[in-house]
Amino acid sequence: METILLPAEQPGASKRAAAVLAAGGLVVLPTETVYGLAADAVNPLAVAAIFQAKDRPFFDPLIVHLPGVDWLERLAVVPRNQQDLVERLTFAFWPGPLTILLPRRPEIVPDLVTAGSPLVALRVSAHPVFREVIGAFGSPLAAPSANRFGRISPTTGAHAFSELQGRVPLVLEAGPTVHGLESTIVALQDGGEMRVLRHGPVTLETLAAFGPVVSGAAEPAAESRSAPGQDAGHYAPGTPLMILPEAAVVDGFPALAQRRVGLLAFRNDRDIPPSSYARLEVLSATGDLREAAVRLFAALRRLDEAGLDLIVAEPVPATGLGRAIMDRLRRAAAGSGTSGKIAGPS
Ligand code: TXA
Ligand code: MG
Repeated sequence: METILLPAEQPGASKRAAAVLAAGGLVVLPTETVYGLAADAVNPLAVAAIFQAKDRPFFDPLIVHLPGVDWLERLAVVPRNQQDLVERLTFAFWPGPLTILLPRRPEIVPDLVTAGSPLVALRVSAHPVFREVIGAFGSPLAAPSANRFGRISPTTGAHAFSELQGRVPLVLEAGPTVHGLESTIVALQDGGEMRVLRHGPVTLETLAAFGPVVSGAAEPAAESRSAPGQDAGHYAPGTPLMILPEAAVVDGFPALAQRRVGLLAFRNDRDIPPSSYARLEVLSATGDLREAAVRLFAALRRLDEAGLDLIVAEPVPATGLGRAIMDRLRRAAAGSGTSGKIAGPS
């Protein structure tokens, strides 16, 4: 299959994307978080094609993007005791990078979308191109991140193109995304707490203004169920990646002198001996977490393509957006590399 990478600002681009979607096809679209691989959410055949194109296992459910907030109760049932919270969350964050899990209407939302779960993940994208396409299409779109399963999420159309070339007909290019990380996912608990299943642009601190917040899976046994795609091996570069403390990063490490090591630094206001690293990527010169989040996946991709033996990443402060960045870095480290072990710093 030939894949067309089409600038989103080209006249007719959105209409063309909507036409592919209406025919049950797949289109890569920009969102404000990462690029998504979209298909008609209520057409099981179209949804199945998403799993095929991504090599994604069918047990990993998809987020459904709504054309607008008014679509929520067409696809989901909001429990009476959660109506107030859902209203406040959607008012504050939709359109935007917050995904909410709610009981689905099984007669509308196909089993395949939720991997059989009674809950469906819903959000409304704020990206103007996404909104234009979904507006023209006129119905909800299922869209996971537009990478092959387990790999780094794309933050440009070109990244998505390199992931899915030959597997999808159309990629709309609208430049780098504004958040750079996938949406925050929350489940609502009976007791009224919000459970954050994936850290993202809407931080714990921000959510705490809306009620009690807890973090992580409900219980170990339920872990694979509550956010099935959250396994440790996600966001993985092919090159081995280690997270090291700042001091080790700054000192460099002689044990690795014979190897080509790349550094993913958080800031650049220290004296890092340039000779220690074959390649340096700085997430934010001033140590700004927002800028670091926006640049993270592209920096990982560049390091992964630099022919290195090892990528060393330094931790960022684990508060606010830093929590989401550390989450992605840990998963990248866990899934990284296929070759043998590399010695740690001596
Ligand atoms: O920002 C985003 O959320 C991007 C853009 C494209 O919208 N999408 C995205 O989708 O990151 P994906 O499929 O790469 O990640 C969605 C995560 C997966 O870990 C999946 O397991 C979880 O959401 N998820 C989806 N539906 C679920 C459900 N019904 N119950 C529990 N977890 C769900
Ligand atoms: Mg993903």
